[in-house]
Amino acid sequence: MIDLSSKLANRDPAITIRRILKVNHAGEFGAIRIYGAQITVARQLFPDIVPSLEEMRDDEINHCRLFREAMPTRSAKPCRIMSLWSLGGYVLGFLAALGGRNTVWICTEAVESAVHRHLEDQLAFLASRDPDLHALIASIQEQELAHLNEAENNQKRRGLSRAMLLPVIGGLTDLMIWLSTWGDSSWMRAEMARA
Ligand SMILES: [Fe+2]
Ligand SMILES: [Fe+2]
Repeated sequence: MIDLSSKLANRDPAITIRRILKVNHAGEFGAIRIYGAQITVARQLFPDIVPSLEEMRDDEINHCRLFREAMPTRSAKPCRIMSLWSLGGYVLGFLAALGGRNTVWICTEAVESAVHRHLEDQLAFLASRDPDLHALIASIQEQELAHLNEAENNQKRRGLSRAMLLPVIGGLTDLMIWLSTWGDSSWMRAEMARA
């Protein structure tokens, strides 16, 4: 039988740190594309929310750059499936925006809350292993939380569509993160649960 806990204990944290950077950088890129598609549709259908979306997209552009800059000293490289994140983000943002402005905010809530959860796991892992990256992620997490709050506050109704869409979009985001970290997102969560 495989002893999972000793396998995890022997694992080189640098590998996980590289995966964290890779998935965060790719995720920010996906977020830029989600907001980009939403902005394109919103300009035509509900231009009043464009300024808020543009502000959030600017934050994601900044996060993406910060994660990219943190890569070289940790020998991390961008994700090889960036095009998938790009396409996935754009399609998700576009479809959500076609559903109307309420769906835009439901989509934003689902994605940002999944991101927030994963950053929480990463912070627990990094606290003792990479304090600099920990500080960077903590400051980014604050802005992601502001995006989440804005998305929640902008929803006029909280009906069936929200109840149905939240788990679907949140699940898709989790899946992309899990795939991009080769499953590391699960064991980081398991490790936190043990602590
Ligand atoms: Fe971000
Ligand atoms: Fe965000």
